Amino acid sequence: MNYKIALIRGDGIGPEVVGEAVKVLEAVGKKFGHSYELVDVLMGGCATDAVGKSYPDGTAEKCKACDAVLLGAVGGPKWGADKPAEQRPETALLAIRKDLGLYANLRPAALRPAMADACPLKKETALKGIDLMMVRELTGGIYFGKRDKYETADRGMEATDLMAYSEMEIERIGRRAFELARLRRGKVSSVDKANVLETSRLWRSVMHRLAQEYTDVQYEDVLVDNCAMQLVRDPGQFDVVVTENMFGDILSDEASMITGSIGLLPSASIGDSAPGLYEPIHGSAPDIAGQDKANPIATILSVAMMFRYSFQRPAEADAIEGAVDAVLAEGWRTPDIAEPGVTPIGTRQMGDLICQHI
Ligand code: IPM
Ligand code: MG
Repeated sequence: MNYKIALIRGDGIGPEVVGEAVKVLEAVGKKFGHSYELVDVLMGGCATDAVGKSYPDGTAEKCKACDAVLLGAVGGPKWGADKPAEQRPETALLAIRKDLGLYANLRPAALRPAMADACPLKKETALKGIDLMMVRELTGGIYFGKRDKYETADRGMEATDLMAYSEMEIERIGRRAFELARLRRGKVSSVDKANVLETSRLWRSVMHRLAQEYTDVQYEDVLVDNCAMQLVRDPGQFDVVVTENMFGDILSDEASMITGSIGLLPSASIGDSAPGLYEPIHGSAPDIAGQDKANPIATILSVAMMFRYSFQRPAEADAIEGAVDAVLAEGWRTPDIAEPGVTPIGTRQMGDLICQHI
């Protein structure tokens, strides 16, 4: 196959980790007979510096002309909250999600076998294993609701952010979760705050309707505060966790931390039509940018997700994931995951080793 892939290298360590992921794409291409057309797309703080806005005109169109999008990382203190919206990298991130219709954000949190010692939880908890998939709604809710800020007569300024969800939005993310559960361990935990929020009560009623349809999948409701607690108490109980946008933002950071290595976790954002967007969970880490210190594994595993979810090529995905596990099992570590006494290797060497294993 020939795949056309948009590369948003972005800011900080973004270009370095995408560079290694491109090497992996080439190694997979050689092994499985694929070729690529790689299209560089400018977005993020680097775009603000180059053309004055983080999301240049035509960004979505360029991406839509591709089969998938690979993103390194965007953001950095240089383009902080004090800057106008169109110059901030976060604005670009939200815009591309909306413009590409990427309503489902898949964030796996799995303890890789060679990394069990990195798990910050109790030993017996780690031994039970952690392998959950956070499915976060990505284009609705409070992130995209109407915002307002106005003067009141007696209480100073007041601000509001509207959280709205339609049955259509809930049903399509719910279906994704149930379908994924069928391919995994057959369990869906739907997270809400139905004891307080009207959006959550609607969310829950739609999920219950779906649960009646997917009778082969085990289903449970979990309140969001309880979920935050269960994630550190016994994460092994979760398979697929589905939740709305802001709860998912918060819980997915928590879920990534319990695996002990945020530098290893990939993500996929998908909609109903191509292209999906694949990116590491971690940020742009400007403090170590350009020093060959970043861990490229999360971005490399994002390429594996691209093969699995956009290209329907599980063998290629398995080959990448297997190579990563093999390199970790041999003891190779970048600085972020190096145990005391282990001499770390650099970004490029980690990429080379993974390519050799492919
Ligand atoms: C994430 C990030 C973004 C989000 C920010 C940078 C806008 O935290 O992808 O989780 O909140 O969605
Ligand atoms: Mg987040």
